[in-house]
Amino acid sequence: MASNEPEPTFSSPYTTTSHNSITPPENSRRWWSKDTVAIVTGANKGIGYALVKRLARLELTVILTARDRERGLKAVESLADLGLHVHFFCLDVSDPASIKGFASWFQEKFGGLDILVNNAAVSFNDIHENSVEHAETVIKTNFYGSKLLTETLLPFFRRSASITISIRLTANHICLEMQKLKNPTIKETLLNEENLFEEQIEGVINLFLENVKSGTWKSQGWPELWTDYAVSKLALNAYSKVLAKRYEGRSLSVNCFCPGFTQTSMTHGKGTHTADDAADLGARLALLPPEQLPTGKFYLGSSQGVYSKL
Ligand SMILES: NC(=O)c1ccc[n+]([C@@H]2O[C@H](COP(=O)([O-])OP(=O)(O)OC[C@H]3O[C@@H](n4cnc5c(N)ncnc54)[C@H](OP(=O)(O)O)[C@@H]3O)[C@@H](O)[C@H]2O)c1
Repeated sequence: MASNEPEPTFSSPYTTTSHNSITPPENSRRWWSKDTVAIVTGANKGIGYALVKRLARLELTVILTARDRERGLKAVESLADLGLHVHFFCLDVSDPASIKGFASWFQEKFGGLDILVNNAAVSFNDIHENSVEHAETVIKTNFYGSKLLTETLLPFFRRSASITISIRLTANHICLEMQKLKNPTIKETLLNEENLFEEQIEGVINLFLENVKSGTWKSQGWPELWTDYAVSKLALNAYSKVLAKRYEGRSLSVNCFCPGFTQTSMTHGKGTHTADDAADLGARLALLPPEQLPTGKFYLGSSQGVYSKL
């Protein structure tokens, strides 16, 4: 989308943002069909599950993936009880072998992909805690897992959206997490979009993990809340920018979406709105008509004036 074009208007049950906005579904052309294929990771519960439900209700072909077979199948069954049929595959995004197995299955069964929602993520902290004990797992799952899955599935994309559910970043938009990042060198690296490549992002990640190992992370200007999670999402957002730039002018769009402070197990049930509310917004973004779908954008959903700490 050219920068001087107006953004599509936005309507939501709970949120507003003046920068990026999403067209309400009633104003959207219904371009998709049952042949439109969507994958959602980490979809046995929370926002991922709600997104699968929403997309299945809109009659897309949806693949619900979950790292635990039993939890995944339980989710599939509960959707079946609502009259919704979805496909299932057991996918652990932190395990490259699992991603490989999923890609082979997907290629054989579906071949073409329209929408990927990188939703799976972990955090091991309660709302006000900030341990980095599990930093490696957090980075491996939230950043490297989403990145490897996206890269593995790139050959299968027919058109449109690869959405990364994430927290906020970008040079153009108000950026709470970047404000929390106090280290000027790291900040400059991530904000310098012209010279931002995967190597720079991985360098930032490696530096963080080294700081964790040496016990110096508290004094190095990393975000002060949910530090490992925030770093993983900053890196993922930066990677989305890199990917969007790489595919500019081609048929693949890469956008980020922050669902806002949502009541799920990650927030121990706290939040300003439900997973269904968040999924409604996520689905609107995923289902923007291909010709309206921007790339390299960051969409924010949150209660006005209330910020998620995530
Ligand atoms: N809730 C919020 O306020 C909020 C705010 C901003 C962003 N987000 C983002 O929104 C997304 C969904 O979060 P949520 O709030 O719905 O959290 P959630 O209820 O905890 O769901 C997270 C999902 O990810 C799955 N998962 C974790 N590790 C995985 C792995 N290695 N492979 C595959 N799946 C894995 C979990 O599976 P298990 O059930 O097996 O653990 C679960 O299904 C996340 O990316 C999160 O960072 C959430």
